[in-house]
Amino acid sequence: MAREKVTVVGAGNVGATTAQRIGEAELADVALIDIVEGMPQGKALDLAETAPVLGADAAYEGANDLAAMRGSRVVVITAGLPRKPGMSREDLLQKNAAIVGGIAEAVRQHAPEAVVIVVSNPLDVMTWLTWRKTGFPKSRVIGMAGVLDSARMSAFIAMELGLSVKDIRAMVLGGHGDTMVPLPRFTTVAGVPVTELIPNDRLARIVQRTRDGGAEIVALLKTGSAFYAPSASAVAMVAAVLRDEKRVLPACVLLEGEFGLRDVFVGVPTRLGAGGVEGVLSFKLLPEESQALHRSAESVRSNCELLARLIGL
Ligand code: NAI
Ligand code: 2OP
Repeated sequence: MAREKVTVVGAGNVGATTAQRIGEAELADVALIDIVEGMPQGKALDLAETAPVLGADAAYEGANDLAAMRGSRVVVITAGLPRKPGMSREDLLQKNAAIVGGIAEAVRQHAPEAVVIVVSNPLDVMTWLTWRKTGFPKSRVIGMAGVLDSARMSAFIAMELGLSVKDIRAMVLGGHGDTMVPLPRFTTVAGVPVTELIPNDRLARIVQRTRDGGAEIVALLKTGSAFYAPSASAVAMVAAVLRDEKRVLPACVLLEGEFGLRDVFVGVPTRLGAGGVEGVLSFKLLPEESQALHRSAESVRSNCELLARLIGL
């Protein structure tokens, strides 16, 4: 049987590492696309030359033309610009919207059946924009953030308790940013609520460190942002789609009544399988948890409205 094809747009830190992980796991053949001439071709060739060392069969193609995504089962969008000194939030929003919007239009044209996983920031707004520009059903446009944010929370809990990461399940909902909603009540260690194992003050510090997880890495790296955990998180979602895993993974999706929210993209637990988002796991939250999720969703909504005004959408 022919291998599936996955396209990763943006061959920077997150994109190239995503391509590497997909190929090394033999999940699919990979097309890597970037605007920088020669760079995606060079990285694709380097990855192809790694394959014999690892004994991992996957073909890699590097390209500058978005048409190279043709025939893809999944397209992962990681293209974008980082915020530079002097650039306002609106400038960044508009610049990344031009990049991601153009890529989304190409997906509609060249890969009309693909499931799209958006990674570019600001994540929730870019996922909404991709949905608008592709015109795809909501099941096929998914933002990656919750897997990463939950992984960060799990890592901090494992460090705190000196336990294996394998036994920890953390839950983080909401937008990918300051308003994200880590939920200790639904976070467990081998089935035991973490609230039984870590004192409140320590847990509050873990919650805040999770919210600041992206910034913590930026402050250390100084010239970029995290990419190992983000690429691993995107690939977990790609695998769930390619293998029809029906995994419950938090992801940014369009809500239509779940958790009392409507017409907004925000992170919730989803069931991911061959069709993309095959359902949302909706359950009762405490009033303060629900308020935090609604606050987060309103912040995403107002950023989407701001972008719509800026670009006349
Ligand atoms: P990077 O700067 O290393 O790579 C971005 C790449 O996009 C560059 O190679 C650039 O040439 C390319 N690019 C720009 N315009 C393009 C276009 N029109 N078509 C194709 N490629 C284009 O950045 P990095 O670290 O890979 O991050 C990528 C994006 O992912 C950023 O927006 C970042 O903020 C976001 N991110 C999101 C995370 C999440 O949890 N959702 C986690 C980590 C990063
Ligand atoms: C992160 O959380 C920058 O969104 C990126 O690492």
